[in-house]
Amino acid sequence: MKRKGIILAGGNGTRLYPSTVSVSKQLMPVYDKPMIYYPLSVLMSAGIQDILIITTEQDQAAFQHLLGDGLKLGINIEWTIQPSPDGIAQALILAEDFLNGAPCALILGDNLFFGSEFEATLEAVRGSNLGATIFGYHVNKPEAYGVVEFDNDGKVISIEEKPDNPKSKYAVTGLYLYDGKAPAYAKTIKPSGRGELEITTLNQIYLERGELTCALLGSGTSWLDTGTHRSLLQAAQFVSVMQERQGRRICCPEVIAFKQGWISSCDIKALAKPLKNSGYGEFLLKIANEAD
Ligand code: TTP
Repeated sequence: MKRKGIILAGGNGTRLYPSTVSVSKQLMPVYDKPMIYYPLSVLMSAGIQDILIITTEQDQAAFQHLLGDGLKLGINIEWTIQPSPDGIAQALILAEDFLNGAPCALILGDNLFFGSEFEATLEAVRGSNLGATIFGYHVNKPEAYGVVEFDNDGKVISIEEKPDNPKSKYAVTGLYLYDGKAPAYAKTIKPSGRGELEITTLNQIYLERGELTCALLGSGTSWLDTGTHRSLLQAAQFVSVMQERQGRRICCPEVIAFKQGWISSCDIKALAKPLKNSGYGEFLLKIANEAD
């Protein structure tokens, strides 16, 4: 069965208040495009065309205004509401009908990944459909994340959610691959002390069953999250610097759709038209013209 994608773009975004009181965090710009373009690009780069976007009830219409049914990008987007932010693992339960037994890639709507090495990592998404795969990233302050511990052979021995004393420097990033059993496992999870269905608990279930793999993302991959004013600004600066230096734009869904052969250069030109005042459209036109 083909892997499907889920973008979890609900939550409260309280660390970005007052900016996110009336606008979803995942619609905030990261330099030149809405935040959700970045996780959407990851799924599309991995060849995933069937995508469920989970939002709050209040924000769904604004997301739909931006992305619609996905047809213009050669993909299929479906929509579901998470009534309250009851935890990341709840996404698998909300997605059960959409998945209909298929394996999935779940990505958090505020996580940015890029880099040449990451492209290679995405091969894993196309690979095995068995068990779960999480992605570990060396960070300075692991205590803010799920933390994964390895034995001497590199096998995962524990995962702990926001531990006071982290057993390693490896954080679990916001991209998770699951087989078709994830919704059933997620339903067995009880809310944690903070009242959430923890994604770490789902990963622990896979670990206990001997069905969890952790792939490490090296220094050739950049992983940024954008949950605070400071990290959002840093992410925007990072994108701006990289794009200016390389003369390319990072995480443009239109370009990825074109490279995947899902839309034509004619389609890109049509998409570029209303965007021409921002420079984004100019870039799309350049890509289309180069290909003609
Ligand atoms: P968080 O950053 O942990 O939460 P948040 O976005 O609500 O922000 P804050 O802590 O500032 O209040 O969430 C990580 C990502 O997961 C983010 O993209 C929102 C999403 N999320 C949901 O969509 N539903 C949920 O129930 C949770 C816990 C997170």
